Amino acid sequence: MAKKYNAINLSQGFPNFEPDQRLLDLVSKALNEGHNQYAHMAGLPELREVIANKISELHNRHYNPESEITVTIGASQAIFTAVTAFIGNGDEVIVFKPAYDCYEPAIEVNRGIPVYVQLNDDDFTINWEEFRSKISSRTRMVIINTPHNPSGTMLSKEDMLELQKSLKGTNIIVVSDEVYEHIVFDGNEHQSASRFDDLASRSFICASFGKTFHVTGWKVGYCAAPTELMNEFRKTHQFNVFCVDHPVQYALATYLKDPAHYLGLGRFYQEKRDFFLSALKGSRFTMVPSQGTYFQLLGYSNITNESDVEFAKRLIIEHKLASIPISVFNLGARDNKVLRFCFAKTQETLEKATVILNNF
Ligand SMILES: Cc1ncc(COP(=O)(O)O)c(C=O)c1O
Repeated sequence: MAKKYNAINLSQGFPNFEPDQRLLDLVSKALNEGHNQYAHMAGLPELREVIANKISELHNRHYNPESEITVTIGASQAIFTAVTAFIGNGDEVIVFKPAYDCYEPAIEVNRGIPVYVQLNDDDFTINWEEFRSKISSRTRMVIINTPHNPSGTMLSKEDMLELQKSLKGTNIIVVSDEVYEHIVFDGNEHQSASRFDDLASRSFICASFGKTFHVTGWKVGYCAAPTELMNEFRKTHQFNVFCVDHPVQYALATYLKDPAHYLGLGRFYQEKRDFFLSALKGSRFTMVPSQGTYFQLLGYSNITNESDVEFAKRLIIEHKLASIPISVFNLGARDNKVLRFCFAKTQETLEKATVILNNF
Protein backbone atom coordinates (compact mmCIF):
# COMPACT_ATOMS: atom_id res chain seq x y z
CA MET A 1 0.00 0.00 0.00
CA ALA A 2 2.89 2.38 0.76
CA LYS A 3 4.06 1.97 -2.83
CA LYS A 4 0.58 2.25 -4.31
CA TYR A 5 -0.25 5.45 -2.42
CA ASN A 6 3.28 6.88 -2.58
CA ALA A 7 3.47 7.03 1.21
CA ILE A 8 6.51 7.48 3.44
CA ASN A 9 7.29 3.93 4.48
CA LEU A 10 7.98 3.45 8.20
CA SER A 11 6.39 0.02 8.12
CA GLN A 12 8.90 -2.79 7.46
CA GLY A 13 12.20 -2.95 9.32
CA PHE A 14 14.90 -1.83 6.95
CA PRO A 15 17.08 1.28 6.69
CA ASN A 16 16.56 3.74 3.83
CA PHE A 17 20.22 4.79 3.89
CA GLU A 18 23.38 3.19 2.53
CA PRO A 19 25.77 0.96 4.50
CA ASP A 20 29.39 1.94 5.24
CA GLN A 21 31.31 2.42 1.99
CA ARG A 22 34.22 0.45 3.49
CA LEU A 23 32.02 -2.62 3.74
CA LEU A 24 30.89 -2.23 0.12
CA ASP A 25 34.54 -1.87 -0.93
CA LEU A 26 35.44 -5.06 0.92
CA VAL A 27 32.75 -6.96 -0.99
CA SER A 28 33.99 -5.55 -4.33
CA LYS A 29 37.52 -6.57 -3.39
CA ALA A 30 36.41 -10.12 -2.54
CA LEU A 31 34.48 -10.37 -5.83
CA ASN A 32 37.49 -9.18 -7.80
CA GLU A 33 39.93 -11.39 -5.96
CA GLY A 34 38.05 -14.46 -7.12
CA HIS A 35 36.05 -15.66 -4.11
CA ASN A 36 33.15 -16.54 -6.35
CA GLN A 37 32.70 -20.26 -5.88
CA TYR A 38 31.08 -22.29 -3.09
CA ALA A 39 32.12 -21.39 0.41
CA HIS A 40 32.60 -23.85 3.28
CA MET A 41 29.31 -25.52 4.21
CA ALA A 42 29.29 -24.11 7.74
CA GLY A 43 30.59 -20.69 6.71
CA LEU A 44 33.94 -19.12 5.91
CA PRO A 45 36.30 -20.30 8.70
CA GLU A 46 37.76 -16.77 9.18
CA LEU A 47 34.25 -15.36 9.63
CA ARG A 48 33.24 -18.05 12.11
CA GLU A 49 36.42 -17.29 14.06
CA VAL A 50 35.60 -13.55 14.39
CA ILE A 51 32.00 -14.35 15.31
CA ALA A 52 33.25 -16.66 18.08
CA ASN A 53 35.58 -13.91 19.35
CA LYS A 54 32.78 -11.37 19.33
CA ILE A 55 30.44 -13.60 21.36
CA SER A 56 33.20 -14.47 23.76
CA GLU A 57 34.09 -10.75 24.29
CA LEU A 58 30.50 -9.65 24.77
CA HIS A 59 28.94 -12.58 26.59
CA ASN A 60 31.82 -14.54 28.01
CA ARG A 61 30.79 -17.76 26.26
CA HIS A 62 33.19 -19.61 24.00
CA TYR A 63 31.68 -21.29 20.93
CA ASN A 64 34.01 -23.48 18.91
CA PRO A 65 34.04 -21.93 15.40
CA GLU A 66 34.58 -25.40 13.87
CA SER A 67 31.61 -27.13 15.38
CA GLU A 68 29.36 -24.57 17.08
CA ILE A 69 28.88 -21.68 14.64
CA THR A 70 27.15 -21.77 11.25
CA VAL A 71 26.78 -18.85 8.83
CA THR A 72 23.22 -18.67 7.50
CA ILE A 73 21.03 -16.85 5.00
CA GLY A 74 19.97 -14.29 7.56
CA ALA A 75 18.49 -15.05 10.95
CA SER A 76 15.31 -16.26 9.21
CA GLN A 77 17.08 -19.30 7.81
CA ALA A 78 18.80 -19.97 11.13
CA ILE A 79 15.40 -19.99 12.85
CA PHE A 80 13.72 -22.08 10.15
CA THR A 81 16.55 -24.61 10.12
CA ALA A 82 16.66 -24.94 13.92
CA VAL A 83 12.91 -25.55 13.97
CA THR A 84 13.08 -28.02 11.07
CA ALA A 85 15.94 -29.93 12.69
CA PHE A 86 14.03 -30.50 15.93
CA ILE A 87 10.29 -30.15 15.42
CA GLY A 88 8.15 -33.00 14.11
CA ASN A 89 4.54 -34.10 14.16
CA GLY A 90 2.72 -32.92 17.29
CA ASP A 91 5.72 -31.29 18.99
CA GLU A 92 4.76 -28.14 20.86
CA VAL A 93 6.68 -24.89 20.54
CA ILE A 94 6.00 -21.99 22.93
CA VAL A 95 5.80 -18.60 21.19
CA PHE A 96 5.27 -15.24 22.88
CA LYS A 97 2.74 -12.95 21.23
CA PRO A 98 3.02 -10.42 19.69
CA ALA A 99 5.70 -12.24 17.70
CA TYR A 100 7.72 -11.63 14.56
CA ASP A 101 6.00 -13.42 11.71
CA CYS A 102 8.49 -16.13 10.69
CA TYR A 103 8.15 -18.38 13.75
CA GLU A 104 4.72 -19.89 13.32
CA PRO A 105 5.00 -20.88 9.63
CA ALA A 106 8.28 -22.68 10.43
CA ILE A 107 6.59 -24.60 13.24
CA GLU A 108 3.47 -25.42 11.26
CA VAL A 109 5.18 -26.56 8.07
CA ASN A 110 7.07 -29.06 10.24
CA ARG A 111 3.71 -30.19 11.71
CA GLY A 112 4.53 -28.75 15.10
CA ILE A 113 1.97 -26.95 17.24
CA PRO A 114 2.54 -23.34 18.33
CA VAL A 115 1.49 -22.80 21.95
CA TYR A 116 1.00 -19.14 22.75
CA VAL A 117 1.79 -16.91 25.68
CA GLN A 118 0.44 -13.39 25.27
CA LEU A 119 2.75 -10.70 26.67
CA ASN A 120 1.22 -8.30 29.21
CA ASP A 121 -0.76 -5.55 27.52
CA ASP A 122 0.76 -2.46 29.05
CA ASP A 123 4.49 -3.20 29.06
CA PHE A 124 4.97 -6.41 27.03
CA THR A 125 6.49 -8.24 30.00
CA ILE A 126 6.19 -12.01 30.38
CA ASN A 127 3.96 -13.61 32.98
CA TRP A 128 6.31 -16.43 33.95
CA GLU A 129 3.64 -18.32 35.87
CA GLU A 130 1.55 -18.44 32.70
CA PHE A 131 4.61 -19.50 30.73
CA ARG A 132 5.26 -22.40 33.11
CA SER A 133 1.61 -23.45 32.88
CA LYS A 134 2.05 -23.89 29.10
CA ILE A 135 4.94 -26.35 29.40
CA SER A 136 3.79 -29.93 28.76
CA SER A 137 5.37 -33.31 28.11
CA ARG A 138 5.13 -32.45 24.38
CA THR A 139 6.97 -29.10 24.64
CA ARG A 140 10.07 -29.42 22.51
CA MET A 141 11.09 -25.78 21.99
CA VAL A 142 10.63 -22.17 23.12
CA ILE A 143 11.27 -19.22 20.82
CA ILE A 144 12.32 -15.98 22.46
CA ASN A 145 13.20 -12.63 20.91
CA THR A 146 15.18 -9.86 22.64
CA PRO A 147 15.33 -6.93 21.89
CA HIS A 148 11.79 -7.53 20.84
CA ASN A 149 10.06 -6.86 17.55
CA PRO A 150 7.45 -5.32 17.48
CA SER A 151 7.40 -3.84 21.00
CA GLY A 152 10.97 -2.51 21.33
CA THR A 153 11.22 -4.00 24.84
CA MET A 154 14.04 -6.18 26.15
CA LEU A 155 14.21 -9.23 28.39
CA SER A 156 15.98 -8.42 31.65
CA LYS A 157 18.55 -10.58 33.38
CA GLU A 158 15.78 -11.62 35.81
CA ASP A 159 13.62 -12.70 32.85
CA MET A 160 16.44 -14.84 31.48
CA LEU A 161 16.96 -16.40 34.91
CA GLU A 162 13.22 -17.15 35.11
CA LEU A 163 13.40 -18.83 31.72
CA GLN A 164 16.48 -20.78 32.74
CA LYS A 165 14.85 -21.92 35.99
CA SER A 166 11.63 -22.90 34.21
CA LEU A 167 13.45 -25.12 31.70
CA LYS A 168 15.92 -26.72 34.08
CA GLY A 169 15.75 -30.50 34.01
CA THR A 170 13.79 -30.60 30.74
CA ASN A 171 15.08 -31.36 27.23
CA ILE A 172 13.42 -28.26 25.79
CA ILE A 173 15.43 -26.36 23.18
CA VAL A 174 15.51 -22.55 23.00
CA VAL A 175 15.69 -20.59 19.77
CA SER A 176 16.86 -17.13 20.80
CA ASP A 177 16.22 -14.53 18.12
CA GLU A 178 18.77 -11.81 18.88
CA VAL A 179 18.86 -9.94 15.57
CA TYR A 180 18.69 -6.54 17.34
CA GLU A 181 21.46 -7.48 19.82
CA HIS A 182 23.45 -4.29 19.11
CA ILE A 183 20.52 -1.88 18.82
CA VAL A 184 19.99 -1.13 22.52
CA PHE A 185 19.44 2.23 24.20
CA ASP A 186 19.80 4.19 27.43
CA GLY A 187 22.60 2.02 28.79
CA ASN A 188 20.49 -1.17 28.60
CA GLU A 189 22.52 -4.35 28.28
CA HIS A 190 21.50 -7.09 25.87
CA GLN A 191 20.98 -10.32 27.83
CA SER A 192 21.95 -12.96 25.30
CA ALA A 193 20.83 -16.51 26.09
CA SER A 194 24.52 -17.39 25.64
CA ARG A 195 25.29 -15.65 28.96
CA PHE A 196 23.47 -18.21 31.10
CA ASP A 197 25.05 -21.65 31.50
CA ASP A 198 21.99 -23.85 31.42
CA LEU A 199 20.22 -21.72 28.80
CA ALA A 200 23.31 -21.67 26.59
CA SER A 201 23.50 -25.47 26.75
CA ARG A 202 20.04 -25.72 25.09
CA SER A 203 19.99 -22.60 22.88
CA PHE A 204 20.41 -21.60 19.27
CA ILE A 205 21.52 -17.95 19.22
CA CYS A 206 20.32 -16.44 15.93
CA ALA A 207 21.82 -13.20 14.63
CA SER A 208 21.68 -11.01 11.54
CA PHE A 209 24.38 -9.01 9.78
CA GLY A 210 21.58 -7.42 7.77
CA LYS A 211 20.28 -5.65 10.87
CA THR A 212 23.69 -4.83 12.30
CA PHE A 213 25.36 -3.43 9.18
CA HIS A 214 22.37 -1.86 7.37
CA VAL A 215 22.40 -4.54 4.66
CA THR A 216 19.10 -6.39 5.08
CA GLY A 217 19.14 -7.27 1.37
CA TRP A 218 22.30 -9.33 1.69
CA LYS A 219 20.56 -11.87 3.93
CA VAL A 220 23.58 -13.08 5.86
CA GLY A 221 23.44 -14.04 9.52
CA TYR A 222 24.64 -16.78 11.82
CA CYS A 223 23.68 -19.23 14.44
CA ALA A 224 25.61 -20.42 17.51
CA ALA A 225 24.79 -23.51 19.56
CA PRO A 226 26.54 -26.34 21.45
CA THR A 227 28.05 -29.05 19.25
CA GLU A 228 25.31 -31.70 19.71
CA LEU A 229 22.62 -29.22 18.70
CA MET A 230 24.65 -27.74 15.86
CA ASN A 231 25.35 -31.23 14.43
CA GLU A 232 21.62 -31.71 13.95
CA PHE A 233 21.18 -28.20 12.58
CA ARG A 234 23.85 -28.78 9.93
CA LYS A 235 22.19 -31.96 8.68
CA THR A 236 19.30 -29.78 7.52
CA HIS A 237 21.44 -26.79 6.55
CA GLN A 238 23.71 -28.88 4.30
CA PHE A 239 20.94 -30.08 2.03
CA ASN A 240 18.74 -27.01 2.09
CA VAL A 241 21.32 -24.25 1.73
CA PHE A 242 24.74 -25.87 1.59
CA CYS A 243 26.59 -22.55 1.80
CA VAL A 244 26.11 -18.80 2.00
CA ASP A 245 27.30 -15.99 -0.32
CA HIS A 246 31.09 -16.33 -0.41
CA PRO A 247 32.37 -12.79 -1.26
CA VAL A 248 30.06 -11.23 1.32
CA GLN A 249 31.45 -13.59 3.97
CA TYR A 250 35.00 -12.49 3.08
CA ALA A 251 34.03 -8.85 3.49
CA LEU A 252 32.24 -9.46 6.78
CA ALA A 253 35.18 -11.43 8.20
CA THR A 254 37.37 -8.32 7.83
CA TYR A 255 34.76 -5.73 8.74
CA LEU A 256 33.66 -7.56 11.88
CA LYS A 257 37.20 -7.45 13.29
CA ASP A 258 36.63 -3.83 14.35
CA PRO A 259 34.19 -3.79 17.30
CA ALA A 260 33.47 -0.10 16.65
CA HIS A 261 31.41 -1.25 13.67
CA TYR A 262 28.79 -2.82 15.92
CA LEU A 263 29.35 -1.25 19.33
CA GLY A 264 28.43 2.20 17.99
CA LEU A 265 25.09 1.02 16.64
CA GLY A 266 23.06 1.69 19.78
CA ARG A 267 24.19 5.33 19.92
CA PHE A 268 23.52 5.76 16.19
CA TYR A 269 19.93 4.53 16.45
CA GLN A 270 19.28 6.16 19.81
CA GLU A 271 19.77 9.56 18.16
CA LYS A 272 17.10 8.62 15.62
CA ARG A 273 14.73 7.36 18.29
CA ASP A 274 15.26 10.51 20.37
CA PHE A 275 14.65 12.76 17.40
CA PHE A 276 11.45 10.90 16.52
CA LEU A 277 10.15 11.03 20.10
CA SER A 278 11.05 14.65 20.77
CA ALA A 279 9.46 15.77 17.50
CA LEU A 280 6.22 14.06 18.63
CA LYS A 281 6.27 15.38 22.18
CA GLY A 282 3.31 17.74 21.78
CA SER A 283 1.31 15.28 19.66
CA ARG A 284 -1.77 13.27 20.71
CA PHE A 285 0.05 9.97 20.31
CA THR A 286 1.16 8.17 23.47
CA MET A 287 4.61 6.62 23.61
CA VAL A 288 6.98 4.72 25.85
CA PRO A 289 10.56 5.04 24.54
CA SER A 290 11.77 1.93 22.76
CA GLN A 291 14.48 0.12 24.79
CA GLY A 292 16.00 -1.58 21.75
CA THR A 293 15.38 -2.46 18.04
CA TYR A 294 14.65 0.27 15.51
CA PHE A 295 10.91 0.29 16.20
CA GLN A 296 8.84 2.76 18.18
CA LEU A 297 5.26 2.08 19.18
CA LEU A 298 2.73 4.91 19.19
CA GLY A 299 -0.66 4.58 20.90
CA TYR A 300 -3.50 6.46 19.22
CA SER A 301 -6.51 5.88 21.48
CA ASN A 302 -6.68 9.67 22.17
CA ILE A 303 -7.28 10.20 18.47
CA THR A 304 -9.80 7.63 17.21
CA ASN A 305 -11.66 4.40 18.00
CA GLU A 306 -10.83 2.87 14.64
CA SER A 307 -9.18 -0.56 14.69
CA ASP A 308 -5.41 -0.42 14.27
CA VAL A 309 -5.70 -1.97 10.79
CA GLU A 310 -8.28 0.62 9.71
CA PHE A 311 -6.27 3.49 11.14
CA ALA A 312 -3.02 2.22 9.57
CA LYS A 313 -4.80 2.02 6.19
CA ARG A 314 -6.23 5.53 6.56
CA LEU A 315 -2.79 6.85 7.53
CA ILE A 316 -1.44 5.50 4.24
CA ILE A 317 -4.30 6.49 1.96
CA GLU A 318 -5.15 9.92 3.36
CA HIS A 319 -1.90 10.99 5.03
CA LYS A 320 0.77 9.17 3.01
CA LEU A 321 2.48 7.49 5.96
CA ALA A 322 2.85 3.71 6.36
CA SER A 323 3.16 1.90 9.70
CA ILE A 324 2.30 -1.59 10.96
CA PRO A 325 -0.75 -2.32 13.14
CA ILE A 326 0.33 -4.39 16.15
CA SER A 327 -2.78 -6.61 16.10
CA VAL A 328 -1.29 -8.56 13.16
CA PHE A 329 1.42 -9.90 15.52
CA ASN A 330 -1.00 -10.58 18.38
CA LEU A 331 -2.93 -13.56 19.61
CA GLY A 332 -6.49 -13.43 18.21
CA ALA A 333 -5.59 -10.15 16.46
CA ARG A 334 -5.87 -8.38 19.84
CA ASP A 335 -6.08 -4.65 19.15
CA ASN A 336 -4.67 -2.25 21.74
CA LYS A 337 -4.75 0.75 19.37
CA VAL A 338 -1.01 0.79 18.80
CA LEU A 339 1.01 1.19 15.60
CA ARG A 340 4.66 0.32 15.00
CA PHE A 341 6.95 2.81 13.27
CA CYS A 342 10.45 1.96 12.01
CA PHE A 343 12.91 4.79 12.67
CA ALA A 344 15.83 3.29 10.69
CA LYS A 345 15.36 6.16 8.26
CA THR A 346 17.16 9.34 7.24
CA GLN A 347 16.59 12.54 9.20
CA GLU A 348 14.67 13.96 6.26
CA THR A 349 12.24 11.00 6.17
CA LEU A 350 11.72 11.09 9.92
CA GLU A 351 11.05 14.84 9.83
CA LYS A 352 8.41 14.41 7.13
CA ALA A 353 6.76 11.58 9.08
CA THR A 354 6.59 13.58 12.32
CA VAL A 355 5.01 16.54 10.51
CA ILE A 356 2.22 14.20 9.38
CA LEU A 357 1.77 12.68 12.84
CA ASN A 358 1.71 16.09 14.54
CA ASN A 359 -1.28 17.07 12.40
CA PHE A 360 -3.55 14.64 14.27
C1 LIG B 1 12.76 -10.26 15.17
C2 LIG B 1 13.31 -10.57 13.83
N1 LIG B 1 13.88 -11.77 13.61
C3 LIG B 1 14.39 -12.11 12.41
C4 LIG B 1 14.35 -11.22 11.36
C5 LIG B 1 14.92 -11.65 10.03
O1 LIG B 1 16.29 -11.38 9.98
P1 LIG B 1 17.10 -11.68 8.62
O2 LIG B 1 16.77 -10.59 7.66
O3 LIG B 1 18.53 -11.68 9.04
O4 LIG B 1 16.64 -13.00 8.13
C6 LIG B 1 13.77 -9.97 11.53
C7 LIG B 1 13.66 -9.04 10.39
O5 LIG B 1 12.86 -8.13 10.37
C8 LIG B 1 13.24 -9.63 12.79
O6 LIG B 1 12.68 -8.44 13.01
